[in-house]
Amino acid sequence: MYRTHTCGELCATHIGQTVTLSGWVQRVRNLGGMIFIDLRDRYGVTQLVANENTSNDLTEVVETLGREYVIKVEGEVLERTNKNKKIPTGEVEIDIKCLTILNTSEVPPFTIEDETDGGEELRMKYRYLDIRRKPVKNALMHRHKVGQAVRRYLDAQDFIEIETPSLIKSTPEGARDFVVPSRMNPGEFYALPQSPQTFKQLLMVAGMDKYFQIVKCFRDEDLRADRQPEFTQIDCEMAFVEQDDVISTFEGMVASVFKDILNVDFAAPFQRMSYNDAMSLYGSDKPDLRFGMEIRDLTDLAKGKGFVVFDKTEFIGGISVPSCANYSRKQLDGLTKFVQRPQIGAKGLVYVKLGENGDIKSSVDKFFTPDDLKQWASHMGAEDGDLLLIMAGDRIQTLEALGQLRLEMGERLGLRPADSFAPLWVVDFPLLEWDEETNRFYAKHHPFTSPVQSDIHLFESDPAAIRANAYDLVINGAEIGGGSIRIFDRELQYKMFKVLGFTEAQAEDQFGFLLNAFKYGAPPHGGIAFGFDRLCSVMDGVESIRDYIAFPKNNAGRDVMINSPSSISVEQLAELKIKLVE
Ligand code: AMO
Repeated sequence: MYRTHTCGELCATHIGQTVTLSGWVQRVRNLGGMIFIDLRDRYGVTQLVANENTSNDLTEVVETLGREYVIKVEGEVLERTNKNKKIPTGEVEIDIKCLTILNTSEVPPFTIEDETDGGEELRMKYRYLDIRRKPVKNALMHRHKVGQAVRRYLDAQDFIEIETPSLIKSTPEGARDFVVPSRMNPGEFYALPQSPQTFKQLLMVAGMDKYFQIVKCFRDEDLRADRQPEFTQIDCEMAFVEQDDVISTFEGMVASVFKDILNVDFAAPFQRMSYNDAMSLYGSDKPDLRFGMEIRDLTDLAKGKGFVVFDKTEFIGGISVPSCANYSRKQLDGLTKFVQRPQIGAKGLVYVKLGENGDIKSSVDKFFTPDDLKQWASHMGAEDGDLLLIMAGDRIQTLEALGQLRLEMGERLGLRPADSFAPLWVVDFPLLEWDEETNRFYAKHHPFTSPVQSDIHLFESDPAAIRANAYDLVINGAEIGGGSIRIFDRELQYKMFKVLGFTEAQAEDQFGFLLNAFKYGAPPHGGIAFGFDRLCSVMDGVESIRDYIAFPKNNAGRDVMINSPSSISVEQLAELKIKLVE
């Protein structure tokens, strides 16, 4: 028998018992007469002790132990003299009576403790060691709990879990596909699903109302802290629903998961905001509503006063940062550099300092009178002591840059605490997005999203103005989920494909299976998909989703542990009838 208890279990009530534990040696402290060992397993850490009463033979074995050795110990539970209040087992220690080394370990490439000396890439290479560390282990356990809470809620709501295939035909979700060659069908390729979108719609046609699946999705796109090439969705679909039905069902799911796991209560219903308001007020379609600092439009007030930068621009806007009028030259230069970074791409930043005593100082004193600046301040609802930060340029780009600056200032002022949550539904997205480069429309969500009924007549006259019957769930500035009411009418679906530049033949070729299914009594339907990895990380107040994925990829999309992607043999290529070009 390897163990009677786990390393996270023993406490004062076990004192006097003889127990057996197995685990990894986290640390050995040899204090001469006494040797202490921290023994770790998934459940916790327990202190073992060898002292002058321990036999010489046993002490010799203890002295050979190194970090990460796997051992089995038998001993008596004693009350500790120096209790450690920080861990559940901190009241006791085990007096070692018998010890077996089950396996030795090389010195690990980084210390396996909460605070480690290993860089991210090194830890990813030895992910199995990194997972032994408490923060990563806890993240995976948190993910497990969130998954279970989701399943409990959906099951109670009568949802059924159905798996859909991974070797499919391309589903456009806006990224590139990962493709898989078919040996049995040379020259042909499967695509890995960017989402199970078309399958869940087919399940609605099949009558399987209330479907869900916790499912891997694959997207070949540029990676960021909250984006992985393979990630997991909580994918859901319902028949005979309108937007409010879907929103209330999944608001319920999110509220129940937060309550179960964090004991956080969300007031229902969640706030809703139109895409246009989100962009105008927060410069983002996923605003962080934990704090205000809304963007204000200054175009009418600031244009036409002889300041060239403003006069020749489409839009002027700003934010009022509370109590920052004392920002130094250096700090302001730092902010200018921040907005000029390529990721934000602003040209510059104008500031106005509203001194406590009514003094006003700005970087545009030459062009604007104190009264002009006071007018801006009052338009922005600013008070003495505040710092106005102002940018000008194309409307959307400037709003987005101000949005980024707002987040940065919110961060600096501590207005984005990890343990406070602001859920928000963003609605009334545009159905289509015009792309200057390719000179065509793209679907803002995906081509199966229904337009708002009253906007359908705009397909011919003004497609850009059509609103989508779509909704995104945002929490703390992260897009946690997105969905829509779907098109279930063949003719409307054709119309949509047409505006996206598909000929009828192309639409048939790519989506014939769905269009065909729509011939046989497709019900009205709609759904949503949540980013499972993101939901887990946002609940923990963490931006990166990596630690919530057991074996994630790095920023170049590589798994550095198994060294993938990698080349395949000439034989494999021949079998697949694939020739590589230099
Ligand atoms: P969407 O593309 O918005 O919708 O994806 C749903 C949610 O999945 C998460 N997500 C990601 N998470 C990590 N890494 C990625 N690369 C990544 N991409 C997306 C986000 C996002 O909100 N089929 C539709 C859903 C529907 O209409 O029902 C879809 O996939 O949290």
